Amino acid sequence: MPSDSKLKTVIVTGGAGYIGSHVVYHLAKTRQYKVVSVDNGHNSQPESLTRVSQLAREEQASETKPADLSDEDWQETNNIVAKNADLTDGASIRSVFAEYGKGKIWGVIHVAAWKAVGESAEQPLTYYANNVGATIQLLQIMNEFDCKRLVYSSSATVYGIPPKVPIPETSPLGALSPYGKTKVMCETIIEDLCTAQQEWKALSLRYFNPAGAHPSGRIGEDPRGKPFNLLPILGQMAVGRIPPTLKVMGNDYPTVDGTCVRDYLHVMDLASGHVLALNKLAEERSAIFADKNKQFKAYNLGNGKGESVLQITAAMKKATGFDYKLEITPRRAGDVPALIADPTLAQEELGFKTSANLETMCADLWNWQSQNPNGYAAVNV
Ligand SMILES: NC(=O)c1ccc[n+]([C@@H]2O[C@H](COP(=O)([O-])OP(=O)(O)OC[C@H]3O[C@@H](n4cnc5c(N)ncnc54)[C@H](O)[C@@H]3O)[C@@H](O)[C@H]2O)c1
Repeated sequence: MPSDSKLKTVIVTGGAGYIGSHVVYHLAKTRQYKVVSVDNGHNSQPESLTRVSQLAREEQASETKPADLSDEDWQETNNIVAKNADLTDGASIRSVFAEYGKGKIWGVIHVAAWKAVGESAEQPLTYYANNVGATIQLLQIMNEFDCKRLVYSSSATVYGIPPKVPIPETSPLGALSPYGKTKVMCETIIEDLCTAQQEWKALSLRYFNPAGAHPSGRIGEDPRGKPFNLLPILGQMAVGRIPPTLKVMGNDYPTVDGTCVRDYLHVMDLASGHVLALNKLAEERSAIFADKNKQFKAYNLGNGKGESVLQITAAMKKATGFDYKLEITPRRAGDVPALIADPTLAQEELGFKTSANLETMCADLWNWQSQNPNGYAAVNV
């Protein structure tokens, strides 16, 4: 990158994964950032970022270069650097920061984590090490290299069983699983750091249920092993990758049709929220921080409305034409009837709004899944 570059260098941890790759795409599209992804490939393939670079390059062909950007910077925005490094390995992460130098990484979007609720209950120590231990180490290294702006990927699971729905950010935190607790712990650690060191600024984004894929169908969700979330399960059923019977866990909840209701938002909308969060961190003294001595805040990123398991399945049937088989089973322990965001704070303070409806999410998911029935694997074998 030229020494007089106007681009801000941002590290995205977990940048090759589902949400990370869409975040990297959105950052590249702003033409304001030089993006460095740090991912160990635990749940991702390098092909995702190759495709993000291709998409950003192709789209750039029809854009006009801003007058204040040099030709080198203009090209550099598409040149996504993909580092294969494990966040639990301090030496590797330190060497990524050292390559750029002290004060040269403008900020970090910390997306990387393990996220399977059930697995976290079976392997709590590995989850705490990967999600909490690695985060502490990352924050220490950021401090060493004078990088003190952070956007953190949190989750609606921090709320546990909320006393009120839609859920505002002021709802008590009561995560039930070790996975959810890692998110609460990381938020607490980051908040404490922002209290202790006032030059730190951090925003925690509590995602509700991301779904869909880039509308081109070239990047999307490609979990290694069995998918755990409803929409990727329905996508993989429709291409015949997994058996076609969906287990609906409980149909006697106090909801529209008795099945659990969740707040789904398009992954493109979710990813765009990260750019808005970085914009806030770029402000000298942002009005979003009421306490000027602690520049930390958490925001819900959700749609503000809910869809039931049966409604989602019907929407996927419409998008795919696939006839899903349903098997009603007893309720699963720990599931709550409805989890819906109150998205007002992010709307008012970040300017966040969702634009895609359920139909678009399902159509985009199907566009990705039908073009890539085996995910990225086909090109990596
Ligand atoms: N997908 C969801 O439904 C959802 C909902 C709420 C919150 N989140 C959070 O969003 C983030 C991203 O989720 P996702 O769905 O994109 O998952 P993902 O598994 O697709 O992406 C996570 C990425 O992080 C990488 N990673 C994990 N541990 C790492 C380590 N130690 N070092 C380097 N890389 C590592 C993985 O290889 C993967 O590419 C996670 O923090 C997750 O907890 C996800």
